[in-house]
Amino acid sequence: MKYVIGLDLGTSGTKTVLFDEEGRAIASASKEYPMYQPHNGWAEQEPHDWRDAAFETIAEVVRGSGVDPRDIISMGMSGQMHGLVMLDEDGETLGRSIIWADQRTGAECEEITRTVGAKRMIEITANPALTGFTASKIKWVQNHEPQRWARCRHILLPKDYLRYELTGDFATEVSDASGMQLLDVPKRGWSREVCGKLGVSLDQLAKVYESPEITGHISEEAAKKTGLSTTTLMVGGAGDNAAAAVGTGVVRDGRAFCTIGTSGVVFAHTDTLSIDPKGRVHTFCCAVPGAWHVMGVVQAAGLSLRWLRDEICGEEKREAEALGIDPYDVMSREAALSPIGANRLIYSPYLMGERTPHLDPDCRGAFFGLSAMHTRRDLIRAVMEGVTYALNDSVEILRGMGVTLSNVLAVGGGARSGLWREMLADVFGCPIGTLASSEGAALGAAILAGVGANLYTNVPDACERMIRQRGVQQPDGARGEAYAKAYNLYTKLYPALKDLYPELKNI
Ligand code: XUL
Repeated sequence: MKYVIGLDLGTSGTKTVLFDEEGRAIASASKEYPMYQPHNGWAEQEPHDWRDAAFETIAEVVRGSGVDPRDIISMGMSGQMHGLVMLDEDGETLGRSIIWADQRTGAECEEITRTVGAKRMIEITANPALTGFTASKIKWVQNHEPQRWARCRHILLPKDYLRYELTGDFATEVSDASGMQLLDVPKRGWSREVCGKLGVSLDQLAKVYESPEITGHISEEAAKKTGLSTTTLMVGGAGDNAAAAVGTGVVRDGRAFCTIGTSGVVFAHTDTLSIDPKGRVHTFCCAVPGAWHVMGVVQAAGLSLRWLRDEICGEEKREAEALGIDPYDVMSREAALSPIGANRLIYSPYLMGERTPHLDPDCRGAFFGLSAMHTRRDLIRAVMEGVTYALNDSVEILRGMGVTLSNVLAVGGGARSGLWREMLADVFGCPIGTLASSEGAALGAAILAGVGANLYTNVPDACERMIRQRGVQQPDGARGEAYAKAYNLYTKLYPALKDLYPELKNI
């Protein structure tokens, strides 16, 4: 039996899973790390935390599984997208990474749009200049920390920094590179024009591969630290959403998934390039060579519930600890005791600004309708509903673009909650499927590893072999109508508050 490893470098933690060639998870390990928020709207992480979590979790699955390391033929990584990792000429990190959730770069986006031209930016990178994406973070460092920029010899994305630590190679692949806004997304290679205009040298950028291509193998130093063999190959891998698409079998036209991780995503595969002229949803190269995807992103989906868990739900945490279960299970059970509409409480999840549909880094979250009768269980339900409404904004835009969303798979930590899956089905008005494996992005990365190592002929065939669907949550018309009323009011909150956010920023 041959084995492959999928590693998912997330925002709350890293998870490494060892799969056999039939897609069965043999061993898995994960490790959390902090996100630093030195100012309102900023978000940074320490690349060394990612590296240590990767080494530790790989070592745990390799040593813990008892599998002969030489039978682990390849490895793939999935990673949180857009984060800026800078290395000096000795390959040392230049401080913390400014990650995808960071919203400090509004002025830089305006500068980029002026320099490249709004139309040209969308033609080449398939998206307008966005605060979450890497190019504006590079501009921010150029503008605010010129000394750090002067020392920057290599620009890497989070998972590609791990690749450097594991294999010594400077490489990336098209799906993650699409989120840097330096890539020509239709042509799947670096754009000389954009890089030139933004003062980024092509020498600073990694070599671009397709996601299942082999980029190198485990180095001797990394083999010693992880227990892996130097014969284990490394493939391109994918940005977390493109990897989750592979891990859920969303690799053909007509298929879609919705993920609730730290961020939330509604993602649809397209064999042909399709761009929203208003730029509200993103178009990226996907992990299937020669294809693309369109997706809407909610900045703070699972992050909203994590915030509530950590700041408000101490009691649920204590109860979960006493019962030896996950606090989110207790929170989900409590939320189910509050009615649809959370007793007239609506939450807008803009803790880190919002992308789809508002493209507004300065908006912030709100509980609307708070009354003295509300309890923590209403707050939890309102947060889950608000995140679902925010995801539904993406569903509506994609449907408006003619993308079929008649059956959506739910993945990510949030999809473990039956209540949340029921909300998704009722609010989207379509069946929500789940898979036997909850690994999503890690499984997708492992599938890409298997394709690269010739275990399978191509990505869609590998998905047929490795992915098994488990259950389907059907929508309920009556519940759907009750949610539709609240969603209607939810869509009016942002326009009503829009002009107040700049004022809030200046307090
Ligand atoms: C996608 C995005 C997020 C991150 C976080 O554009 O910013 O989904 O990849 O995981």
